[in-house]
Amino acid sequence: MAITFICPQRDTTPWVKALNALDPQLDIRVWPHDHPKQAIELALTWAHPPGVLREYPNLSCICSMGAGIDHLLADPLLPDPSLPGNPEIVRLVDRELIRSMSEYLLLAVLYHFRQFDVYQTRKQHKDWHPLLPPEKEACTIGIMGMGQLGGAAAITLSAAGFNVCGWRNSPEKKQGIPSFHGRDQLDDFLSLSRILICLLPLTQKTRHILNLDTFSKLPPNAYLINVGRGGHLKEPDLLTALDAGHLSGACLDVFQTEPLPADHPFWQHPKIMVTPHISSQTDPISVAPQILENLARLRTGKPLLNRVNIKKEY
Ligand code: GLV
Repeated sequence: MAITFICPQRDTTPWVKALNALDPQLDIRVWPHDHPKQAIELALTWAHPPGVLREYPNLSCICSMGAGIDHLLADPLLPDPSLPGNPEIVRLVDRELIRSMSEYLLLAVLYHFRQFDVYQTRKQHKDWHPLLPPEKEACTIGIMGMGQLGGAAAITLSAAGFNVCGWRNSPEKKQGIPSFHGRDQLDDFLSLSRILICLLPLTQKTRHILNLDTFSKLPPNAYLINVGRGGHLKEPDLLTALDAGHLSGACLDVFQTEPLPADHPFWQHPKIMVTPHISSQTDPISVAPQILENLARLRTGKPLLNRVNIKKEY
């Protein structure tokens, strides 16, 4: 039996190396190179071509190569794991992914909070004018999405001395971080969030949740950090809110279209920081043991790690 990668936009070399370093006998194939489809039991995927996963008669597990599964759900022909005989779907939950997301968010928050964004602009005019030091008490950070990544970021930011609150689907507290939940409590959460971080999974309920109405409920001069998915943000609404002066800026790592097209207005906008979807990149060496563990579980009929609920869309 064998495993395959199906990820047309990614370089699989470091993944194959990391897996073979732990299991030199493992038969690893890479789509679309010729491979015996009936021998494939596990597929590692990222943005696979729709329908292709149905071509493997003995596929028992589909594993997202990241934390998100929206790229899988974009396939209308994705086999439904709740139906008997269909492959299970798992994602990667990894300490390194969690750590690097917290690190990115701490940097993005401090860059704005310590006014580096302003000084970077002033530098172009050789403008030497210290601003008043910012006040942490007046700068609550609101995190939308308090799963593994959001919960860890909340702890990191609160250890850095910020007031942090979270907003999530269900009423669950994360290690003393005040938490709001559901649509009913969204406005209260937003009214506190001077810096708003989006780390939600992209679902039908959360698509375009970052819109003009949402922005209007934030305190004046609020700052947006989007590390969820491009589909969370109504991109023209961000430009409107920035140009109206209601938002002071935004740091974006994810976009409706990636790579961000060369003529996109975000590239030129002085108040928007752009990074190319790097807030938290899967490290093949770090996740290889988890992939092999799931393969072993698959072969011995044990429950798999990090199964996803496609009804919930995460
Ligand atoms: C990255 O975006 C991921 O889902 O891991």
